Order: sequence, then C-alpha cells, then structure tokens
Amino acid sequence: MNGCLIVFEGIDGGGKSTQLALLAEALRAAGHDVVTTREPYGGSPAGRRIREMAQGNEAVSPETELAWFLEQRRDHVREVIAPALERGAVVLSDRYYLSTIAYQGARGFEWQALLEQHESEGFPPPDLVLLFDLDPGAGLARVEDRKGVAEPVFEETGLLSRARAIFLAVDRPYMVQIDAAGSPDRVAEAVSRVVQDRVGLLPSPEDRDTKET
Ligand code: TYD
Repeated sequence: MNGCLIVFEGIDGGGKSTQLALLAEALRAAGHDVVTTREPYGGSPAGRRIREMAQGNEAVSPETELAWFLEQRRDHVREVIAPALERGAVVLSDRYYLSTIAYQGARGFEWQALLEQHESEGFPPPDLVLLFDLDPGAGLARVEDRKGVAEPVFEETGLLSRARAIFLAVDRPYMVQIDAAGSPDRVAEAVSRVVQDRVGLLPSPEDRDTKET
C-alpha cells in the first residue's frame, strides 16, 4: 500500500477532531488526496450498535463490546482505509486500533495481547499515531462543555485514567505524544511539526516562508 495512515488517539476531550480537521485542511492545501474518517465507524452495523450503546445507559459485557469494536474495524479497514491507502491517499482517522488496546485494556483485557492480536490480524499498521495526552479530569470537563453531559459508558474518570496509562505505555515507533492541554493553535503547531518530521507531506517552515515573501 502506498498511502499514509495518520491516526489521532487519546482519551475523550483532547481535541482530536478539531486537530484532525485542521491537519486535513493543511494537507489538502499542500495538494494531497486526503480521506478523513473515524471509529466507531458508522458505515458498519457493529459501529452503529456501539454508538447506540454509548448514548444509552446500558453497557454490554466487555466481551461483546470488544467483539463489536473488532467487527466495526474490519468493516472500516475493508471499506475505507485499505482502498484509500491503495490509491495512495493520506488517511486521517479519529481513533483506530490503539483505542481498543487502551479502552478495552482499561476494561480488563490484557492490553499487550490485544496489541499483538491487532498486529497479527493484518490491519494496516499506522505510519504515525498522534497521541493527544491530557488529564482525564480536564478531558471530561471539555466533553461536558461540548455535549452537555458525558457518555456514561465510556466517559468516566477511572476508566479514562487507566486508558491514558495504557496509551502512554504502548512502545511502538509510530507513537508520538502531543500535549493536548495547550491552546488549539499551539497544539496545531505541534501537530504540524511532528507530521513534517515523521512523514514529510507538509511544506517545511522555510518553504512556507519563501512562498510567502
Ligand atoms: P468517540 O470518538 O468519543 O465518539 P463520540 O465523539 O461520538 O463520542 O468514541 C466513542 C467512545 O468509544 C470513546 O469513549 C472511546 C470508545 N472506544 C473504545 O472503547 N474502543 C475502541 O476501539 C474505539 C474506537 C472507541
């Protein structure tokens, strides 16, 4: 596959979707074919079941939840991610398999085993994972500002603290931590710098200066 897969990860309320939209705009301005997508993937029946569950109050068993996340991911990869990478696009995904490692790990599954399972199943590995790190309390406050109320199934401080610890413990060369506590502008600058350093794709600051003058 020739494209590039950049994933936005981290606990809820870290500003992933805002930053994803900003990066998509910058990459398109630089002439790239950009596909933006997200998980839970709404094109999949399992993804829709997850969203319904998250909005209601009724949690399913951790085993069922894990099975649904895997099912929606297979649909997502087959229908969206793999075809886009094959035609050489840059894919920006709001969440991908590290969310399962962290959140379902936080529910009690052994996260190292989940990671190995994902790596051996043939899901395309990300080229870059931007991990938006912040304190769960700060994240939940942002979620509540945005939605009025947190989704009780996933957005709970204990679960988010455990998920955050797992995100931080994953040791893979594609992981880069971004401090999500700063202003959106500063976080966007950090994102551009990391994307430029790790995968190129954006004009370097010197090129931008030359063009502007
Ligand atoms: P989220 O991106 O927060 O969607 P929304 O903005 O619509 O609420 O995703 C919903 C929740 O699903 C989020 O709290 C994290 C959780 N989640 C998992 O537990 N495992 C996974 O594999 C994924 C992709 C998400």
